[in-house]
Amino acid sequence: WWDHVGVAPKDPINGVTEAFLVDCSPNKINLGVGAYRDDEGKPVVLQCVREAEAKIAGSEFLESISSAVSSKFVEESVKLVYGKDSDVVNEGRFSGIQALSGTGACRLFAEFQRRFYPKSRIYFPHPTWSNHHNIWRDAQIPESTFHYYHPNSKGLNFAALMSDNAPDGSFFLLHPCAHNPTGVDPTEEQWREISCQFKAKNHFPFFDMAYQGLASGDLDSDAQAIIFLEDGHLIGCAQSFAKNMGLYGHRVGCLSVLCNDAKQAVAIKSQLQHIARAMYGGPPIHGALLVSTILSDLDKKALWVKEVKTMASRIQKMRGSLRACLEELGSFVNWEHITNQVGLFCFSGLTADQVDRLATEFHIYMTRDGRMSMAGVTTGNVSYLANSIHEVTVF
Ligand code: LMR
Repeated sequence: WWDHVGVAPKDPINGVTEAFLVDCSPNKINLGVGAYRDDEGKPVVLQCVREAEAKIAGSEFLESISSAVSSKFVEESVKLVYGKDSDVVNEGRFSGIQALSGTGACRLFAEFQRRFYPKSRIYFPHPTWSNHHNIWRDAQIPESTFHYYHPNSKGLNFAALMSDNAPDGSFFLLHPCAHNPTGVDPTEEQWREISCQFKAKNHFPFFDMAYQGLASGDLDSDAQAIIFLEDGHLIGCAQSFAKNMGLYGHRVGCLSVLCNDAKQAVAIKSQLQHIARAMYGGPPIHGALLVSTILSDLDKKALWVKEVKTMASRIQKMRGSLRACLEELGSFVNWEHITNQVGLFCFSGLTADQVDRLATEFHIYMTRDGRMSMAGVTTGNVSYLANSIHEVTVF
């Protein structure tokens, strides 16, 4: 048995964490995984989560999967993304299901896509989150990419994006805010144009919403891509509360798919539940209970909104500090993109060799595509980081 089983390839993001953990240097910095850290470099338990924990203590029915918890959670999650007064929510024209964070929501959707559109492909922006490739590959959906990032401007290649030649009626994965890994988002006007083009071509937009609130600091502004609704699109959305509520370990997320009417919604939901039942039964309820407790209570929600803003502001501040430090060092590289890009990630433009040097010579860890999780930058380490980047980029 098992002789033919080789070692699986390392995950490019989790592999960074592993390398960081075994490094004994006091100067080490982890810019790998996109999970929020405070200015001490520590993971944060939000105050709204602590309050929700206190409120629900002892109230869970641990023996059974509570559909009431799940329904409340889905209802609150969809309001957050589509708007509490949106017609699709009020008229019940959506199928929503609790999922194992954003990854699980994507996986469920990919499986749904394979079952009901077996000949379809998925179009990813180039580049996209590394795990998107794994998720759709494991669901046996072939992938293609569409133009997104411009390496010279380190911004959006909008003209190329708009000139895509995917066949009409294709599935597209879009990052509605805080694009991972580039930190480059379309403007509201550009989203409108994309929406219009998708409508003309009858493409299906699937949004992977992993960082709502962490791009602009405002939850509603970060959902601006959902203006697709105005053009009457049916859309899908994977939501995660891993980063914006600091619940990474709870794997709490939501998959929603908009439908033409309530009858379709019932059918699609039953199919999603059917897929989930065979894959993992049902999701754990604790994280979902925390999220719905926060979102359905005015005070706790207001506290969360404030805390999201604080997290986003700290990251924006670190972007400014890192760029300023590099400029003060007299770097010849243009670092404007550090502050132009948004969300947790800065797509630095560092080459794989430079990334390797940062790890081996300076104990600074990031993925080899040069993506830096700005959450790992702190007041205490920003100058060391800037000096180290300067060292590897100076010729
Ligand atoms: C990331 O890209 O670092 C995050 O989405 C976390 C993860 O699970 O990969």
